[in-house]
Amino acid sequence: MSEKFKAVVIDNQNEKFTREIKEINKTDLKDGNVFVKIDYSSLNYKDALILNNGGKIVRKFPFVPGIDFSGKVIESEDSKFKKDDNVILTGFRVGEAYFGGFSQYAKVDSNFLIKTPNDLDNHKAMMLGTAGFTSLLCAFAVKAKEELLMGEKVKDVLVTGATGGVGSIAVMVLSKMGYDVHAVTGKKDKNDYLKDLGAKNIIDRKEFEGESKLLEKGIWDGVVDTVGGTALTKIFAQTKPGGIVAACGNAGGIKINTTVMPFIIRGVKLWGIDSSGSSIKRREFIWNEASKLIDFNKLKSLTKELSLNDLLETYPKLLKGEYFGRAIVNPNK
Ligand SMILES: NC(=O)c1ccc[n+]([C@@H]2O[C@H](COP(=O)([O-])OP(=O)(O)OC[C@H]3O[C@@H](n4cnc5c(N)ncnc54)[C@H](OP(=O)(O)O)[C@@H]3O)[C@@H](O)[C@H]2O)c1
Repeated sequence: MSEKFKAVVIDNQNEKFTREIKEINKTDLKDGNVFVKIDYSSLNYKDALILNNGGKIVRKFPFVPGIDFSGKVIESEDSKFKKDDNVILTGFRVGEAYFGGFSQYAKVDSNFLIKTPNDLDNHKAMMLGTAGFTSLLCAFAVKAKEELLMGEKVKDVLVTGATGGVGSIAVMVLSKMGYDVHAVTGKKDKNDYLKDLGAKNIIDRKEFEGESKLLEKGIWDGVVDTVGGTALTKIFAQTKPGGIVAACGNAGGIKINTTVMPFIIRGVKLWGIDSSGSSIKRREFIWNEASKLIDFNKLKSLTKELSLNDLLETYPKLLKGEYFGRAIVNPNK
């Protein structure tokens, strides 16, 4: 390889925030013990926040963002990985504290990597990316009601922020699991899109705004919530006895104003999802389940492939809620 390669570099000198595609050197990659040639990364909400102004997440500059990637091992100081192994990285503060995936190469800690399962490839892995991995974590949290907790069978599952990256894949996975998926969206023109992913019913986001009662009619066996805020408050009040709410996002706000009632009267379970800190064992389980639950042809049809240049033009749309579907980033394009 050439010692120089392309990466998105964000900087914050004299309070002026910049983002540029630059040539950097292998010696600029200071962390980690596995050197990887990146095939793909993906654009997630957190990436958009970081590209915008660091998102109060990145503290050291200059910095290479990108919270996930898939690629091939070039060199490894850990015998767990050898040259040409295909690997997946999501989270573990890569793209936040350690140089990330919006680059042709990365160097990361071997404890952050898993091998790409044989029935996936690096393109499929990043069509899913952090968003898809999170959707799968949420879907298995909902499924735990009937499996791990031996409760009644799950029937009705609500997904908020349904046209987003996490929401779209959650709709697809939960319908494949056999559940009736109720998709909440603010985008009136995306009903067909959501139905095509497997949603049985579409609900206007407005129905989850405003005050909610302590307890409302219990409707949901499970919920995948990517929105937080007032929507999540209402969701607790509408969850059936023993239902599970997998809360992973804050696209609509960070504050929840609830009471203990849903939890102590109905045994509602709040299952917080932190994809970034998931154990390697859990990652391997989830990634190995992906091919059974994802229709990759369909996912491909709703995925756009972006160059690093395209990425810099696209991320503001994600922040404005004007982007839907998945964006895979090809740093070699
Ligand atoms: N915990 C974790 O491990 C983890 C991992 C990945 C992502 N996340 C979080 O999950 C959330 C979704 O991520 P994503 O990548 O799917 O983002 P995304 O693609 O931007 O999707 C977010 C969706 O939320 C809805 N939305 C946007 N603004 C809203 C508002 N003000 N009120 C209510 N709904 C709103 C929109 O869907 P509709 O128009 O269809 O309503 C939007 O498409 C983010 O908060 C992200 O930080 C967490």
